[in-house]
Amino acid sequence: MRDWTVLGIETSCDETAAAVVRGRAPGPGTILSNIVFSQLDAHRPYGGVVPEIAARAHVERIDGIVEEALAGAGLSLSDLDAVAATAGPGLIGGVMVGLTTAKALALAAGKPLIAVNHLEAHALTARLTEGAAFPFLLLLISGGHCQLLGVADVGRFRLYGTTIDDAVGEAFDKTAKLLGLAYPGGPNIEKAARDGNPRRHALPRPMRGRAGADFSFSGLKTAVRQLVQDGATDAADLAASFQAAVIDILGDRTRAAMAMFRADFPQARDPAFVLAGGVASNRAIREALTELGNREGFQTKIPPPRLCTDNAAMVAWAGVERGQRGLSDGLDAAPKARWPLDTLTGGRAGASRT
Ligand code: KG4
Ligand code: ZN
Repeated sequence: MRDWTVLGIETSCDETAAAVVRGRAPGPGTILSNIVFSQLDAHRPYGGVVPEIAARAHVERIDGIVEEALAGAGLSLSDLDAVAATAGPGLIGGVMVGLTTAKALALAAGKPLIAVNHLEAHALTARLTEGAAFPFLLLLISGGHCQLLGVADVGRFRLYGTTIDDAVGEAFDKTAKLLGLAYPGGPNIEKAARDGNPRRHALPRPMRGRAGADFSFSGLKTAVRQLVQDGATDAADLAASFQAAVIDILGDRTRAAMAMFRADFPQARDPAFVLAGGVASNRAIREALTELGNREGFQTKIPPPRLCTDNAAMVAWAGVERGQRGLSDGLDAAPKARWPLDTLTGGRAGASRT
């Protein structure tokens, strides 16, 4: 199989992004350009992402960002093998902007369109950066998702655990608000926690030791709220104690999923344990989970922080992997607000276990 060159577009949340990536499965691939425009300043006054503002900002920016990505790669549309865009899950107005742009470009250039699942793009990033081999265990931790999955192949996922309430990034963002830290909460909690004592406050570890690998974070957030209402003002100690609890929860649930993965894939030798999603850019979480992976006989692979948070290089790479398998989409591909990973297709026909 020769290398493919794919333009990727990402507009599912508050980043307007385009990138050009070249390579072939299993990776690693080469990022020729990777442009990310963050709308943070537009949303910060509201303490969260406002869908209407996001959609409008995507419309205003997307053409220029795509031009920049092509120019940065030194390529024109005719040099591409395909155009890929996030088709969901995400804020529907934003997804429509990126997907419609990709359709127009694909039609104009006579190239295949590839409608990418945002979560699969996060999941496959460790193949772009390190060529991680299938099957691998994935911990996807972002603002909207908290899942443990066995990744058997492109489009073939087995769900081991998911959150029964908040996503972990959401817990970071809500807890930050309680502590008076600015949006987005994740990076600000991480920063505050560096000067704090993680043992100062005894916070709960919901679901720890439970059968299965599901998560829960809302009790943790409620416990922080109670401490604040009772007069605690030490943001650094609160942030450090919260982050330590999150690390314990992620570690405990991951260990449970590792056993499930071993049972599913007894033949996998030195399988990879991959982290993905915005929360995977947290350094304390990266270190703790790398150690856990090593202890449990997995090779921990975590993309660099700028490829953990939302970006279009991951979308372009998912386009490379899908396109090379002959998986492309019609111009009638629909944007999806919800699109769970375990409903995807793309692996060997008839081999799906989910
Ligand atoms: O993957 P992502 O960029 O967007 C989604 O698809 O959700 O993840 C964004 C989430 C936000 O909740 C943000 O607070 C969190 O990732 N995040 C972090 C860190 N950087 C981003 N959480 C903890 N520590 C960080 N350093
Ligand atoms: Zn994301």
